[in-house]
Parts: sequence; C-alpha cells; structure tokens
Amino acid sequence: MSLNLVDTTYESYANLPEYISVNQVLIDQIDLDGVRRVADLACGTGLLSGLLLDRAPDVAICGVDLDPEQTGIAGRTFAGRGRLLSGLEAFRAEGAKGACFLTQSADELPLEDGEVDLVMIGNAIHLMPDKDKFLAEVARILRPGGEFIFNSLFYVGTFPEGSEPIYTEWLKQSAIILDEKNRARIAAGEPPIPRKRGGGGRAFAKGWLSPEGWAEKVAAAGMTVTSVGRSESIISRSGLQLIGAYGGLAEVLMSGYPVDIAAACLFEGVDRAFDEMGIESVPRYWMEMKARR
Ligand SMILES: C[S@@+](CC[C@H](N)C(=O)[O-])C[C@H]1O[C@@H](n2cnc3c(N)ncnc32)[C@H](O)[C@@H]1O
Repeated sequence: MSLNLVDTTYESYANLPEYISVNQVLIDQIDLDGVRRVADLACGTGLLSGLLLDRAPDVAICGVDLDPEQTGIAGRTFAGRGRLLSGLEAFRAEGAKGACFLTQSADELPLEDGEVDLVMIGNAIHLMPDKDKFLAEVARILRPGGEFIFNSLFYVGTFPEGSEPIYTEWLKQSAIILDEKNRARIAAGEPPIPRKRGGGGRAFAKGWLSPEGWAEKVAAAGMTVTSVGRSESIISRSGLQLIGAYGGLAEVLMSGYPVDIAAACLFEGVDRAFDEMGIESVPRYWMEMKARR
C-alpha cells in the first residue's frame, strides 16, 4: 500500500454501510415534532445532516466542524445535491431548507441562545476537550424542550467481552509495521521517520466516560436524559482499515508521528492482525443518548 493512497479524511469511513446504518438508528429515534432548526456539531463530512434531511427535508441545519477539510467536503457534497445553504444568514432565513457548514469549534458556537430545536453530535463528543463547557454550549443554543442526541464509539463499555485483545493486536502489528518502515528508510540512507514528543491521545482510552458518567454530565448541564441505549455493530476488515486511516484517530493512536505515515501503518496493521487472529471482523458497542433541555 503506497502512503499517498491512504485517505486520512473521515469521508470513506462515513460512507460505509456499517457506519451509516448505526447512525440511521440514531436519526430514526429523533422526535421531529416542532423541529425546524438543527445544529450538527462536529459534523465531519455531513453524514448525520444528510440522513436527517432524507427524513425531514424541510429542516435547516447548521453543521459545524473544526477541520476545514471535512467542512469543505460536506459543502461540496451538499452543493452537488442542491441542499447547501450559503451560511448562517441563509440558515436563519424564513423557510430555509438544507444545511450550511461552518469551520468552527463546537464549544464556542456562533448561534443565539435557544436558537435551535435539535442538537446532534455523531461519534465526536468524546473528542471535546472540555466536556462541561461543550455541554453548557449545547444547553445554551437549545430552546427549552429541544432535544439533544448523540452517539459514540469511544466510551467505557464499548468493547464487547473478549474483543479487546483484537484491538491490542492491531496496535501491536501497526507498531511493527512502523518499525519496519523506519528500518527500510535507514537502510536506504534516508533519515528516520520523525517523531514529535509530547502531545498525547485525546480519544483513545483517555478521559473516556461510561454512559452513567455522560448522563451525569448532561444532567449537570441542565438537560433531562430521556434515554440511554447501546447498539452492537460489527466492524469489518475494510471498515477498521478506514477507521485506522482517518487522520484524526491516527494522530491519537500513533501520537507524534506524521499523520500520513501513522495512517498507513494502522491501515496495513489491520490485515496483519486479522490474518494473525484468523478473523474477518470485530464487534463493538455504540452508546446512544437522548436528552431534553
Ligand atoms: C469521528 S469524526 C465524526 C464526524 C461526523 N459526525 C460523522 O459521524 O460522520 C469526528 C469529527 O469531530 C471533529 N472535531 C473534533 N474536535 C472538534 C471540536 N472541538 N469542534 C468541532 N469539531 C471537532 C473532527 O474534525 C471530525 O470531523
């Protein structure tokens, strides 16, 4: 696998049927009664926005993501579908339908108090550096009675019993591949793969909360938790390859290494680990939570 063939954006994974179906479950749970304006926080390439617009074509969505590459992809995709709103003014216009995408941190939103009827955040709440600040921002922009809904693959309880060794083997094999690449470079007279010290992972096993921990925080932000659920998903070989190749995770799992090299190692590491263990997929639980302001 040549390095420049690894897609480090979130687009390929977000397009996989196994990822779409789990997010469809989340979207199908939304009570659409009275929903006109929606915030899709850490929207990535706009998967949740697209699924919601399929179910509720008349809503206006403000998608927000920190990464301009993801919002750029979302903007182009929605423009192609004729569903792009040009910005906040268009989102606020009477009768607006579609989605706009802003490059912005989800914990400091350009939205007014009580401006939206629904806030959703798909598989990203675990990435928020200050969870309380983020939840306070969610509560601020939601109108009283509005719904908050999220899911996450990174929480305490995500690993079905017996599955953790598969993830450990994957990381081990990815580290071996990195070492092989390094040795090959040195043997060819090239400088070793550079590594920045410091930093450290935000998403992986650090600061993860249990569903109970999340429910407490949501309640402390002034919202009432209405349901806590769990879905089992099966991550296929190719699915885990695309997850590993996603730059946002690669920089956490192989912190300090150039993202494209880390992504390529994690991509290749899946084949080695799965072959070693004689498996084709790995199970994983998703947490789903709903609350009302
Ligand atoms: C795993 S992806 C999920 C994307 C999308 N919600 C989906 O399910 O397809 C996580 C996203 O969170 C974004 N992100 C991370 N920290 C953020 C922050 N503080 N504010 C806004 N977006 C953030 C990343 O750029 C990335 O697009």
